[in-house]
Amino acid sequence: MKRNRLKLEDRLVISMDVGKKSELISECHKIGGLVSTVKLGLEVLYNIGLEAVDVARSFGYRVMLDAKLMDIPNTVNGAARGIAALCPSIVTMHALGGENMLRQAKITLKEESQKRENRPPLLFAVTILTSLDDGDLGRMGFSAGHIDTVTLLAGIALKSGADGIICSPNEVKIIRDRLGTDFLVATPGIRLAGDDRGDQKRVNTPGEAVRAGSDILIVGRSVTQSGDLKGTVEIIKSEIKDALKQ
Ligand code: C5P
Repeated sequence: MKRNRLKLEDRLVISMDVGKKSELISECHKIGGLVSTVKLGLEVLYNIGLEAVDVARSFGYRVMLDAKLMDIPNTVNGAARGIAALCPSIVTMHALGGENMLRQAKITLKEESQKRENRPPLLFAVTILTSLDDGDLGRMGFSAGHIDTVTLLAGIALKSGADGIICSPNEVKIIRDRLGTDFLVATPGIRLAGDDRGDQKRVNTPGEAVRAGSDILIVGRSVTQSGDLKGTVEIIKSEIKDALKQ
């Protein structure tokens, strides 16, 4: 997927962090087709199960499967075969799983999708979770700080065949400066001005994220806890649109 092919409705992915099928159905319904893709992550997958993929698809949404895989290459490769059969449009893996894990998974996703005559999912590599700051990283031995660590991991992931990377809005500009523009960047850690940060530490607004060079904004609580899902989605989309014009 080329960056300039993204439509406005592809640029905002709503994170469905719910634990019940009825809640998933209700949120899919409330969003009312204003975005092309919803994100199904660990909460949905371990509470509702893989059936959630069909639920989201029954509303016409594409699925970003936020599997956040990280294991030895052989194991992730096996998972990639099953994931290709689920046909998500995007799947996530941790860049920290390493070059071989990402490279082999990418090949398997492509081969298995081709066997089924499906488009292979885009592989997005999570760099450093947006809930971690330099203090957290330092205590885990990543003394380079988040900017250099994220850039390093992004470079490794792209070299290993990832189609895109995931980082906070605050690192996008430096990643674009250092690594270029020929890859997709998706950013969680998005908050509308005045919203609660929750557990996220490296956050910014939709407009700032797009101006920095983010292609896809992943937004959960700012939308789902807003009390007006549709209205908030519209606000974020117009913020994205304005930022793209600048
Ligand atoms: O509610 P909020 O907008 O913080 O949700 C962000 C979503 O993005 C969550 O589903 C979370 O799992 C996901 N995510 C993240 N940080 C990453 C990758 C994904 O917060 N690095």
